[in-house]
Amino acid sequence: MTDAPVVQKHPIGSRVAKGHVKPHVGPDRKAYEEEHTQSVGERGDEWWAKRRLTPSFFLSSSLLQKANETLSWYRPFQTVRSGSFAQGNIAWFLEGELNASYNCVDRHASASPDKTAIVYEADEPSQGRNITYSELLLEVCKVANVLKSLGVKKGDTVSVYLPMTWHAVAAFLACARIGAIHSVVFAGFSAESLRDRINDCQSRVLITSDEGKRGGKTIATKAIVDQALKECPVVDKVLVLRRTGNEINFVDGRDLWWHEEAEKVSSYCVPETMNSEDPLFILYTSGSTGKPKGVVHTTGGYLLCAALTVKYVFDVHPGDKFACMADIGWITGHTYIIYGPLTLGTTTTVFESTPVYPSPARYWETVEKHGLTHFYSAPTAIRLLRQQGHHHLQSFTLSTLRVLGSVGEPINSEAWEWYNEHVGQNECSVVDTFWQTETGSIVLAPLPGAIETKPGAAQVPFFGQAPVLVEAATGELVEGPGEGVLCLSKPWPSIARTIWKDHARYLDTYMNPYPGYFYTGDSASRDEDGDIWIKGRIDDVINVSGHRLSTAEIESALILHKGVAEAAVIGIGDDMTGQAVHAFVIMKPEFSYSSSNETSLVKELIIQVRKVIGPFAAPKKVYIVGNLPKTRSGKIMRHIIRKIVAGESDQLGDLSTVAEPSAVDQIKQKVSESQ
Ligand code: WT7
Repeated sequence: MTDAPVVQKHPIGSRVAKGHVKPHVGPDRKAYEEEHTQSVGERGDEWWAKRRLTPSFFLSSSLLQKANETLSWYRPFQTVRSGSFAQGNIAWFLEGELNASYNCVDRHASASPDKTAIVYEADEPSQGRNITYSELLLEVCKVANVLKSLGVKKGDTVSVYLPMTWHAVAAFLACARIGAIHSVVFAGFSAESLRDRINDCQSRVLITSDEGKRGGKTIATKAIVDQALKECPVVDKVLVLRRTGNEINFVDGRDLWWHEEAEKVSSYCVPETMNSEDPLFILYTSGSTGKPKGVVHTTGGYLLCAALTVKYVFDVHPGDKFACMADIGWITGHTYIIYGPLTLGTTTTVFESTPVYPSPARYWETVEKHGLTHFYSAPTAIRLLRQQGHHHLQSFTLSTLRVLGSVGEPINSEAWEWYNEHVGQNECSVVDTFWQTETGSIVLAPLPGAIETKPGAAQVPFFGQAPVLVEAATGELVEGPGEGVLCLSKPWPSIARTIWKDHARYLDTYMNPYPGYFYTGDSASRDEDGDIWIKGRIDDVINVSGHRLSTAEIESALILHKGVAEAAVIGIGDDMTGQAVHAFVIMKPEFSYSSSNETSLVKELIIQVRKVIGPFAAPKKVYIVGNLPKTRSGKIMRHIIRKIVAGESDQLGDLSTVAEPSAVDQIKQKVSESQ
């Protein structure tokens, strides 16, 4: 049976229901269901391909397709989809040729050159500016030509390590323009993480900046790059954006200034003709083993889903100003700052600062200043701002907002209600959107205009998506209300096509756990109305402030410390960050330390993780222990440790499989001492 709580449904936000524009889907759930049924029916693939309201006899032969309505193609596609989950060879819009940068920039620059493409809200509120579509086109062409002058060719990878400046958008699209595959690394990652990601995809060229600005602080971006590049033999050119202008180290022959190189090249670059299935980008994400996975997305299908989810999940219309507050270094930034809004020709926002700089009113100031219509953020930021108090919102006009989004982790109902009441003023639609790096675009979300919302539920599948719940042990489908492993049963256009240079891992991770389905790694429940509630990961992935971390990755970082013999990392519920990292560490017998200097050892271990992965992965607590509960075959029993820390020591269940039961008592004692 479902354990989803009985909840109060929230009516469709009145600014959407009676808004100044007619919602794309509506007026009720029935309208959504009719279209969704078509989109997952026998001829479901045609939903993506077809243009709505076109007589059906016209469809099969015609190329007047939804993909055509949304995207501009140099050469039309003939085959909508081929391949299957089981074979792991899904492909969409075969034969079709297009260019992502043309779709995101040129066609809008020619239709409305002076329209704002990007609202750049700089770290210091007074320093931002708007960039028009024609300005964006010029910058994209310049950088594209610079990359070409550095010898970058179609199919090459280019690594990007940039802070949140609008130039980052130009860097992404410049790669796409010449058919280079960008691999963007979140600028909060450490030198070592950057090094590993560059080496995995073997890029020759890296795009970065002198420094970054965030929350009034200066980040030594280039210094981190220099450190990383000591062990990246393949990189021979580094293009450096001048963001702060402070003095930095420059390596002659390798490092080049973005602005100087841009001066040397022409102002127009012909976009490369790409096949729909050519890779657009690689993005590394954490899985249940130590090594991050280079998730590969291709061009046509990804772009179509990015655009259509912006259109329907956020009910975006011409003239809207869309703001996604994620970082461009994560998939949310790729899809909902760059590719989705720009494909539609919508104004997008690049927000460089933090929610609390210079004060906790920063977001609301930004909404008022630009008249933003859409605001897409994460539960962790909403919880933080809720804690700061709603007086921070009171002096701002937020009435331009129509749709508020949430992503990254389950949103607790208190945070949802606060978001709805204080930010949305009970007039916006609040959409809790569930998806993943691998899905490329939103999978579940209540569509504004059609679906009444329930705080904490991502609710219904997007068009073309057919989620199922599977019983973990048997692989049987759970029908009706109940709980299970969330899998997706129909291929959609923006599904990741492979893991860079490791297709076997792709198959093992997503396709083989439950043959015939795509495995998400999350568990979920379905309530009486058929709505889905995401519970959280069931693999060894922890979600801290919406950042996806693998326990194995953090354990490997800890083990690199000279004194550490063994480590076990678990995720523990946290009021502010969703989950927090707790690490249990056994020191080598020869490593001498006394319990009186345990505090400094713990600090050292935290620094170790910050250094190897990045500050966002730092454990909240480190416990030095003498032993860890293991099975007889030597597997660490993390679930036992997790229950002890979560205060569920009375629910440890059968301990007969623990090789050394005294390890359990030791952990209990250590945890109780530290509380
Ligand atoms: C994991 C994916 C692409 C979104 C940003 C994170 C969790 C994501 C929700 C949500 C509950 C969510 C899942 C998922 N997650 N959105 N609305 N409700 N959980 O992308 O880094 O690939 O992480 O984030 O556990 O598997 P990601």
